[in-house]
Amino acid sequence: MRTLKLLGEGIPFPFSILYARGARKYFMRFYKEIAEEVASEIEAGYLLDLGTGHGLLPIEIAKIAPNVKITGIDISEDMVRIARKNVKREGVADRVKFQAGDANNLSFDDGSFDFIISTGAMHHWSNPITVFNEAHRVLKYGGKAWIYDLRRDASREKLEKYRLS
Ligand SMILES: C[S@@+](CC[C@H](N)C(=O)[O-])C[C@H]1O[C@@H](n2cnc3c(N)ncnc32)[C@H](O)[C@@H]1O
Repeated sequence: MRTLKLLGEGIPFPFSILYARGARKYFMRFYKEIAEEVASEIEAGYLLDLGTGHGLLPIEIAKIAPNVKITGIDISEDMVRIARKNVKREGVADRVKFQAGDANNLSFDDGSFDFIISTGAMHHWSNPITVFNEAHRVLKYGGKAWIYDLRRDASREKLEKYRLS
């Protein structure tokens, strides 16, 4: 039986399941749009997703960017379990891997990735600067990191665009 394990910055079971269900229902439009944006920037290479959650965004990227190899990490082992289950269903499991890990202390060598993304995770980080330094370390020279997160001053137009319906 799984038990609730508090993770500080992470989303543990059973909230992982609730978030994954809600995201599939309400956020797919957002993931598809970000996937297009990212795929227009990286044609081939290695991409890292920090705080990947259920993995739906990396899966969308893999569907339209067949030469990109993606690693998604999450501090919540239950999220990683859900992401692995999701990727199996989508036929891109050879190019998208998920592993448990803390964005504050990445297990990758320096200069391992061409591109880093993160969506909706930064507000969980107690010290974002530590994560940015880690992201910088594992990026190749000239690589890019795009961090998407919530903001209080979002325009009415954006709010309308992503309004849950
Ligand atoms: C709100 S969810 C966003 C998930 C997904 N990226 C999305 O756009 O829907 C934030 C995720 O970040 C993970 N997370 C938070 N802090 C983390 C850290 N330090 N390292 C890795 N993952 C982290 C949480 O466990 C959670 O799955």
